[in-house]
Amino acid sequence: MNVIEASGLRYAYPDGTLAIDGVDVTIEAGERVALVGPNGAGKSTLLQVLGGLVEPDSGTVRYFEETEDADAVRDRLSVATQDPSDYLFNPTVEEDLAYGPGQLSLPRSEIDRRVDRIAERLDLADLRSKPPFRLSGGEKRRAALASALTVEPDVLLLDEPVSNVDAANRAAIVELLSELSAAGTTLVISTPETELVPRVADRVVLLDGDGIAADGPTREVMTDAALLADCDLRPPQVVRLFADEEPVPLTVEEAKERLRSPDDISDGE
Ligand SMILES: Nc1ncnc2c1ncn2[C@@H]1O[C@H](COP(=O)(O)OP(=O)(O)OP(=O)(O)O)[C@@H](O)[C@H]1O
Ligand SMILES: [Mg+2]
Repeated sequence: MNVIEASGLRYAYPDGTLAIDGVDVTIEAGERVALVGPNGAGKSTLLQVLGGLVEPDSGTVRYFEETEDADAVRDRLSVATQDPSDYLFNPTVEEDLAYGPGQLSLPRSEIDRRVDRIAERLDLADLRSKPPFRLSGGEKRRAALASALTVEPDVLLLDEPVSNVDAANRAAIVELLSELSAAGTTLVISTPETELVPRVADRVVLLDGDGIAADGPTREVMTDAALLADCDLRPPQVVRLFADEEPVPLTVEEAKERLRSPDDISDGE
């Protein structure tokens, strides 16, 4: 099933800046898609249009093959925008985390269960009673992500979910996203960081400011140095390091595996 079908999207900001023009993208249920591109390429604008937060000047976005009304699918689709403050407006972190499921009229016990679980996973347990505006940048990012996750949507649209986040929490978020994906959640993740892409996406939609420069498997797009350079991006470090290998490892784990079992050593035993 196509959870999002967008065609002919165009959006110009009120000051006249044309952010996206002629964008077509279809996301199937269960996919992990990264929207990748340099600063100003239109990733955030596209993510907000796909999430129904910004109405395009032209073009359409259809959800779950049944409606063009994003508000009708708010319980099935959640967006975390680039600025975490957009999603943190309650007096405490805990209330922000409970806000989304509260809107779904779930029983209090279920809301508490979700808040407890996500707060624990994203290392927010000690920050629950703090006002969100008193959090650090990375803490705000995690709190905003957590409040999108407590909705437990079928489709998650996340704008730079690990920006400002330290290594341990970044790993926790990547692992949580993998678990959600394994459980069937569709993920659309925007990032300018090519290092992150192989960990969170199987497909890349590459934006270059003029539209979609490429749309294909992560392995193909993330190993095409010339294509990425045209978009002011570079392949992940391991890809550059192992550029002559076939197939090129995309992550440190894949590279370690390659070093452990080089092609020229036969496992003849
Ligand atoms: N509120 C705004 N008003 C006017 N122009 C805007 C506004 N927000 C973004 N833009 C412009 O729209 C274009 C696309 O911006 P967008 O935020 O979608 O890029 P992005 O790919 O998310 O970049 P980044 O990696 O920096 O987050 C840019 O040229 C930007 O300057
Ligand atoms: Mg952005």
